[in-house]
Order: sequence, then C-alpha cells, then structure tokens
Amino acid sequence: MKGFFLVWGLFQSLDFVCSESCVQAQDYVCNQIPTGYPPGLSSVVFFLRNMGEINSTVFNHTNLSSVTSLTMTQSGITAIAPGAFSQFQSLKMLNLRNNELSQISSDWFIHKEVLENLLLTNNSIKALSEDSFAGLVGLLNLNLAQNQIHTITSDSFRFLTRLRLLDLSHNKLRHLSVDTFLPLNNTKTYGMHGNPWDCSCSVNEFSLHLRDLQKASLLQNEMEVLCESPAHQRGRPVWNVSKCVNPVTDIALTTGTSQTLTPGSTNLSTIISLVGRFS
Ligand SMILES: *[C@@H]1O[C@H](CO)[C@@H](O)[C@H](O)[C@H]1NC(C)=O
Ligand SMILES: *[C@@H]1O[C@H](CO)[C@@H](O)[C@H](O)[C@H]1NC(C)=O
Ligand SMILES: *[C@@H]1O[C@H](CO)[C@@H](O)[C@H](O)[C@H]1NC(C)=O
Ligand SMILES: *[C@@H]1O[C@H](CO)[C@@H](O)[C@H](O)[C@H]1NC(C)=O
Ligand SMILES: *[C@@H]1O[C@H](CO)[C@@H](O)[C@H](O)[C@H]1NC(C)=O
Ligand SMILES: *[C@@H]1O[C@H](CO)[C@@H](O)[C@H](O)[C@H]1NC(C)=O
Ligand SMILES: *[C@@H]1O[C@H](CO)[C@@H](O)[C@H](O)[C@H]1NC(C)=O
Repeated sequence: MKGFFLVWGLFQSLDFVCSESCVQAQDYVCNQIPTGYPPGLSSVVFFLRNMGEINSTVFNHTNLSSVTSLTMTQSGITAIAPGAFSQFQSLKMLNLRNNELSQISSDWFIHKEVLENLLLTNNSIKALSEDSFAGLVGLLNLNLAQNQIHTITSDSFRFLTRLRLLDLSHNKLRHLSVDTFLPLNNTKTYGMHGNPWDCSCSVNEFSLHLRDLQKASLLQNEMEVLCESPAHQRGRPVWNVSKCVNPVTDIALTTGTSQTLTPGSTNLSTIISLVGRFS
C-alpha cells in the first residue's frame, strides 16, 4: 500500500486523460471497474463512486486468482452478491471500510478458508448470524467497528477459532450471550467500547465475562466500555459493576429501598420477596 497516495495524486493530476482505468504501481490501482486484468496481480485497490451492488459478474475474471489483497474503501458499496468474490482464490485481505453495506455473508466467497483480514469498519451492518462468518476458519482480524450492530446470535463466531482481533466498538450492542465468546480461543484483543451496554443484574454473566477479559488485559479502551442502562449504572465500566445476588436485591441495594418502593410504582410481589429476604 506504500505507493497508494502517490498514485492517487497521479490519477488526479492526469485526470485519466490517457483513458486507462488502472495503473500498475506498488498496487494495481483502478478508478473504474476494468474489462480485464493482467495475470499475477497481488494487490488491487479501487477508487470508485456510487458502486451500489457488487454482483456476481463484476469480478468474474480468472486473472484475479492471484490477488491476495483487495481494497475498495468509500466506494458506495451497498450490497455484495453471493459468489461475487469466487474468482479470488488467494484473497487474504479484504478492506471494505467506509461503505454502506447493511449485511455480511460468507457466501460472498468460495475460497473461504484463505481469508485472514476482513475490514468492514464504518458500514451499516445491523445484525450478525451464523451465516455471516461460516467457514471463515482462517480469519485472524475482524473489524466491525462503527456499524449499527444491535444483534449477534450466539453461534455467529463459531468458525473463528483462530481469530486474534475482534473489533465491535461503536455499535449499538446492549447485550451479548456469554456463549458468543466460547469459540474465540485465540482472541487477544476485543474492542467493545462505544456500545450502550445493559448492566442489569439479569445479564450479569456478561459483565463477569468482561471482567475476565479486562483482568487478562484483552479489552481495548477498557475505560470506555460503559453501561448505559439501568440509569443507576450509567457511565460505569461494564466489567466493574458490583456483584449482583439476584435482580430483586440489586434494586434494593443499589438504588435504595425508600426510593424504589414508593407508593404508586410499588410492585407488591417485589415488596413481598424483599421482606421475605431481609426479615
Ligand atoms: C489474463 O491474462 C492474460 C495474459 O496477460 C491475457 O492474455 C488475458 O486476456 C487475461 N484475461 C482476461 C480475462 O483479462
Ligand atoms: C453487474 O454490475 C455491473 C457493474 O455494476 C453492471 O454493468 C452489470 O450490468 C451487472 N450485471 C448483472 C447481471 O446485473
Ligand atoms: C463468468 O464467466 C464465465 C466465462 O467467462 C461464464 O461462463 C460465467 O457464466 C460467468 N459467471 C457469472 C456469474 O457471471
Ligand atoms: C464513514 O463512511 C462514509 C461513507 O460511507 C464517509 O462519508 C464518512 O466520512 C465515514 N466516517 C468516518 C468516521 O470515517
Ligand atoms: C479452546 O482451547 C481449548 C484448549 O486449547 C480446547 O480444549 C477447546 O476445545 C478449544 N475450544 C474450541 C471451541 O476450539
Ligand atoms: C470500580 O468499582 C469500585 C467499587 O465500586 C470503585 O471504587 C472503583 O473506582 C471502580 N473503578 C473504576 C475504574 O470505575
Ligand atoms: C411485579 O413483579 C412480578 C414478579 O417479578 C411480575 O411478574 C409483574 O409483572 C410485576 N408487575 C408490575 C406491575 O411491574
């Protein structure tokens, strides 16, 4: 990527008067989708606008089989069709930062096990499921920071046993099942900050898991991994919420019984269970 900016400058100054859409530098740099590719390329970089969907014919060129790194940042990509990257037999690095993807699926690829780095920072992804990363067993770095992710099913990372870095920072996550983390045996860095985490007692298992990660120094920006709810926990590090015995005693002990159990908002069954507990 060293000659990247140099070539981009060259592009802009020449304004493609010579009508070439690609130039060979350190990377093969294109400002349009070309009609063909020379053989033996290793790194391809696109500067595109309003690309929309990458359908299954855009990259249907056998000469792309040698490419190990593909970069298409800020190109207005909104969707990627199944099999769109099937000609990339050697693709280790896919950088799709600053696009408008709302979904991720491993069926973009056929040679799934080769991919090591998947950068999807600053897209519009909302949910992750088992299909998102199925078969991506070689993945080492997964960057999903700055998306809109609110849901991650607990089997989503099932294939990612080699993953070293997982960046979920600056999404819309409130809670994750602890089971989600089980396959991540080799993950050394977790980006969890910038999410509106729920720190209710009912989801205390998650905060205990984050405490383990924090103790093992695996949590990036640990002081910014904060509770958003309930109100009395807001602004606290998720990994530092006080131990919960059960939801009922947590309400009583952390917000004060006199405030919580005011007439009108009083739930009779809560009072009964509290009285039973403390008498
Ligand atoms: C692939 O590369 C070869 C050798 O340069 C070239 O003859 C051929 O046209 C290329 N194929 C495509 C589809 O661009
Ligand atoms: C695929 O996308 C290309 C470029 O965006 C477009 O020219 C082509 O018509 C599309 N093909 C199909 C089958 O949709
Ligand atoms: C890819 O190209 C081959 C021949 O070049 C063609 O037979 C095939 O239908 C194409 N596939 C897609 C999905 O465009
Ligand atoms: C995120 O991507 C959009 C284009 O989709 C871009 O305009 C914006 O500057 C990017 N934001 C950051 C923080 O990089
Ligand atoms: C994680 O590693 C442990 C010890 O190396 C191993 O026993 C366990 O099966 C691994 N879990 C997964 C999901 O690979
Ligand atoms: C963690 O919690 C303890 C006890 O509530 C508090 O004294 C300490 O300041 C907290 N640490 C951080 C980093 O919030
Ligand atoms: C009161 O608490 C019980 C048991 O937790 C619950 O089932 C019920 O929905 C609550 N009622 C109100 C009005 O919050």
